[in-house]
Amino acid sequence: MTTLVTGADGYLGWPTALRIADRTDDRVVLVDNFGRREWVGEIGSTSAVPIRPMDERIGAAKSRLGTRNLSFVEGDLTDKSFVDELLAVHEPDTVVHAAAQPSAPYSQINGERANYTQHNNLQATRNLLWGLEEHDLTDTHFIETTTTGVYGAPEFPIPEGGATMENQGERDEVPFPAMAGSWYHLTKSHDAANMRLAHKQFDIPVSDVRTAIVYGTETAETRAGDYHLKTRFDFDYYFGTVAHRFCAQAVAGYPVTVYGKGEQRKPFISLEDAVEGLAQLALADPETRPDDFAVYNQVTRAISIVEVAETIADVAAEFDYEVAVEHFENPRDEDETHKMEIENDNYAGLIGEQAQTFEEGVRDIFETLEQYEDTITAHEDRFLPGVLEEQNEQTAAEADD
Ligand SMILES: NC(=O)c1ccc[n+]([C@@H]2O[C@H](COP(=O)([O-])OP(=O)(O)OC[C@H]3O[C@@H](n4cnc5c(N)ncnc54)[C@H](O)[C@@H]3O)[C@@H](O)[C@H]2O)c1
Repeated sequence: MTTLVTGADGYLGWPTALRIADRTDDRVVLVDNFGRREWVGEIGSTSAVPIRPMDERIGAAKSRLGTRNLSFVEGDLTDKSFVDELLAVHEPDTVVHAAAQPSAPYSQINGERANYTQHNNLQATRNLLWGLEEHDLTDTHFIETTTTGVYGAPEFPIPEGGATMENQGERDEVPFPAMAGSWYHLTKSHDAANMRLAHKQFDIPVSDVRTAIVYGTETAETRAGDYHLKTRFDFDYYFGTVAHRFCAQAVAGYPVTVYGKGEQRKPFISLEDAVEGLAQLALADPETRPDDFAVYNQVTRAISIVEVAETIADVAAEFDYEVAVEHFENPRDEDETHKMEIENDNYAGLIGEQAQTFEEGVRDIFETLEQYEDTITAHEDRFLPGVLEEQNEQTAAEADD
């Protein structure tokens, strides 16, 4: 048996690959094109946790965890011939597809980045799905981390997958409409629709795992070793997700800024719980897998932005960082009091009890970040947007000359 983990150099892909490899003797093949390292470099930032080259990461996994089943292939999943060869050589029984350009702000910078993001994410997924069909691998379980962002922020509790639609007295179950709010998030709406189609046309078993905002720095496997085993941690405006950026701001001595009231709730999950769900799915026995097409809301709790900020300020104090929570006028057009509710029965069934609360995850983050305070302060101007927007303005101005 072989599991392919795409995006395996990334924040989520790396610890997921470690967990799967640690729980089985079967082969786990990692794939990445190191795009994330490049994008973060392009905007002048870096991962706070230093990330080693892939051969060193795999070597550390072998010596610390005893995993002898990990191998790595470098390549770009948008290249169909690369994907064809990958599938033909490795014939995976499971694909955990975690490769994507995952930043909404990056996808919003300009038309070029919007195009890049949509092309990258959609083409990679299409190549994999069509590749499974064309290489006679339609029993392969295809698992993708999409996003809870495809649901938008509706006024009713968010279902896990489809919704019931009623029109002129008739009712039917329909896939939840694409309510994504960025060019990135919409790639996952398209992927969700394409996976549905691939299941219908090719009969590929699909798990569409709608991932919430992931927080944390550690899993059971990353704790087992030195920094070679750690996963990346981004804190800049484009690639740092909200809780991570707030924590890094606290470490650099900045107040945590909340737009408006900040009472709107966002869905969250710890890295530990996210990795566990993906590993459970990847290692599930095909005979007992719950469904051949399933949607999982990979979320454990919806938390208000103000609660996120206050928890971070409280935990920061334990580490002797004094952090003020400041409210600013909201530049975004959003309901600052939206009380998101989100169903997650399928997902909760996969992971059982939640392993890590938000507060515990934040404690892990501070334990990690206090070691890398210098890296964060050296890049503290990256908390704000600018570098690429300024470049664009300059290019536009030069073009006008
Ligand atoms: N981290 C979160 O909070 C979060 C939330 C919701 C959904 N997700 C989804 O989970 C997945 C993993 O996210 P992450 O936070 O680990 O992001 P990440 O950027 O750290 O990891 C993605 C990896 O995919 C690789 N990649 C991208 N395009 C590729 C291509 N064409 N060919 C080969 N490799 C490619 C990148 O180099 C990177 O290492 C993504 O699909 C993302 O959209 C993440």
